[in-house]
Amino acid sequence: MNPTVAATVEETRQAVAAARRRGLSVGLVPTMGALHEGHASLIRAARRQTGFVVVSIFVNPTQFGPHEDLTRYPRPLQQDLEVCGREGVDLVFHPEPATVYPPGFCTYVEVTGLQDVMEGAFRAGHFRGVATVVLKLFNIVQPDVAFFGQKDGQQVRIVRQMVADLDVPVEVRVCPTVRAADGLALSSRNAYLDPEQRRGATALHAALELGRSLIEGGERDPERVRGAMAARIGAAPGAVLDYAEVVAADSLRRPDRLRGRVMLAVAVRFGSTRLIDNVLVDVPDTHSV
Ligand code: PAJ
Repeated sequence: MNPTVAATVEETRQAVAAARRRGLSVGLVPTMGALHEGHASLIRAARRQTGFVVVSIFVNPTQFGPHEDLTRYPRPLQQDLEVCGREGVDLVFHPEPATVYPPGFCTYVEVTGLQDVMEGAFRAGHFRGVATVVLKLFNIVQPDVAFFGQKDGQQVRIVRQMVADLDVPVEVRVCPTVRAADGLALSSRNAYLDPEQRRGATALHAALELGRSLIEGGERDPERVRGAMAARIGAAPGAVLDYAEVVAADSLRRPDRLRGRVMLAVAVRFGSTRLIDNVLVDVPDTHSV
């Protein structure tokens, strides 16, 4: 059975208010649709942990650059509604762009510093669009808990910073990255890959795991880890590396030496398809070894 679909702010607020009157806590899973098992894992976490589950499906134009894939981004709405129905979603918020960005819209959220590195360095304005739409979704739905995937590690870090800095009364919970059997992180963009590119795309996860194993083997020089990850990706046919980064998980800056929690992150293009992936690694304390 398809869940209730709301296209306006008013309908959404009314449905959420009715759930609250019934004493239910509210969970939000923000998505751009083309739902796969990664999204489903977030919905299941929300289903387990909150009483009324809202999924937003909105391909957010402000987080796409002028030459990116906004128009070709997949929008299989009927399939998405079936997934939501199967997963027991209570409400789908599926607004038109003009509902989210009415004429005259001119207010944006910037998470300075964190928004400028890695993805931000290759996709100018991307995180301004993400932070703005996520804050709007939080204000429209007013959830108790919002669920995000570690798959987009920088996005998670930025959303957490925004919530802390702007005193947003939402708890952010992060779910692990769901992967295909060969390690490729599930992504709506995987559908663009031809069979050869799909085989090459396993290089992202392989490079991250190589980085992790070097660190676990005692490597503490981030440049060496970066170099090894880049070389692993360079060896995959058709892969064009945007970046292989090793950053402190908190600041997203490059450290001189590896310690604490670090994020290994890669972005790779196959033709016009761009894929990202990351893992968090807790660097073993060398004193205790
Ligand atoms: P989208 O790419 O649709 O992803 C929606 C949520 O699903 C994000 O929190 C993302 O990290 C998570 N996700 C995607 N693939 C995943 C995987 N393989 N395993 C676990 N989680 C996964 O991210 C966005 O949309 C947008 O930027 C959004 C936050 C909705 C703002 O427009």
